[in-house]
Amino acid sequence: MSSLEGVASEINSFTINNEKDAEEFRIKFIGSKGLIKGLYLELKNISPDQKKKFGQQVNGLKLLAEEKYNCAKERLIKTGSNISKVDLTKPGIDESVGSRHPLSIVRNEIIDIFTKIGFSVSEGPEIEDEWHNFSALNFPPEHPARDMQDTFFIEKGEQEIALRTHTSSVQVRVMENSKPPIRTISPGRVYRNEAISARAHCFFHQVEGLYIDKNVSFADLKQTLLYFAKELFGEKAQIRLRPSYFPFTEPSAEVDVSCSICNGKGCNVCKYTGWLEILGCGMVDPTVLESCGIDSHEYSGFAFGMGIERISQLKYKVNDLRMYSENDIRFLKQFTSNI
Ligand code: PHE
Repeated sequence: MSSLEGVASEINSFTINNEKDAEEFRIKFIGSKGLIKGLYLELKNISPDQKKKFGQQVNGLKLLAEEKYNCAKERLIKTGSNISKVDLTKPGIDESVGSRHPLSIVRNEIIDIFTKIGFSVSEGPEIEDEWHNFSALNFPPEHPARDMQDTFFIEKGEQEIALRTHTSSVQVRVMENSKPPIRTISPGRVYRNEAISARAHCFFHQVEGLYIDKNVSFADLKQTLLYFAKELFGEKAQIRLRPSYFPFTEPSAEVDVSCSICNGKGCNVCKYTGWLEILGCGMVDPTVLESCGIDSHEYSGFAFGMGIERISQLKYKVNDLRMYSENDIRFLKQFTSNI
C-alpha cells in the first residue's frame, strides 16, 4: 500500500529527460496499473468519514501527475529531440522575420523626402462624405468630372457617403481646420470602382501634397517636384510638365520624370518616349480655398497627388498591380529597406 505523501514525493522527484522517461512516468503513475489507480482501489478500505477527503487528495495527485506528463511531452515535441541529447554546438534555429511591404517602403521614402522640407503628415477617414471628396474640391453635383473617379457609393441620398476616391479629401479637412501656412502630405488608401487587371485595381494608395501660404507660385510647385524626383530617382532625374485638367487646380499639369532605366533615350518601359508619368498637380483653385474657409486674395497654394503603386512599379519594375495585394511571400520577401 502506498501512502499519499509517498506517491506525491515520487511524482515530484521523477525527472523526465526523454521519451523513454516520459513513458516510464506514465506507466508508473497514470497508467491503468499505476500507483494512482492503486490509490483509487484503496478507497473501499477507507472509513466512510475519511472517504471524501481521501478521494479529493487522490484526484489532486492525478492532476499533478497528468500535468507533469503533458508539460514534459510538450517540451520534448518543441525541442524536437531528447533533452539529454541537446547538441549545444549546433547552429540555432532560424527565426524568420518578416519584411516591409514594397508599398510601405515607397510610402515611407516619399514621406521622408517631404518631411525633410517641412511638410507634415496628415491622415483622414477612408469612408468619406460627398462634401470632402467632391463638392469642396469644386466638383459640382452632376458634373461629368465626377466620372473621372469611378466611385463606390455606400449611401445615396441628401448627404452621399462613399469610399474616398483620393486623399484630397484629407487636404480639405486640413484646410477647414487650420490656418495657413499649411504644408502637408496625406498618404493613404483610396478606392475606385474599376475592373481588376494587371493595370488597374479597385483600391490603391496615394500620397497627395498641399502647400498654402502668401505668394506661393507655380515656380515653387515645379521646384518642389524637381527636388522630389531627384531625391527619389537620383540626381540625374529631370521632370517635364504637360497641361492637364483637375476640377480643384488651375492651371493643372501631369508630371513626367525622365526614364531612369534608359536615361531618357527610350526603352520599352517608357514606351520609347524617354518619360514616365508619375503625378498630377496644379495651383489650388481659388474656389476650393474659399470653400474651405481660406481667403483666396491673401493666400495661394499648390497641390499634387501621386499613386504609390505607380512609383513602386517604376522603382522595382513590377509589371502586375495585383502582386501588391496577393500576399505571395515569394514576391514580398524580395524587398528590403532601412526605413
Ligand atoms: N486628386 C487627384 C487624383 O486623385 C490627384 C491630384 C492631386 C491632382 C492634387 C492635382 C492636384 O487623381
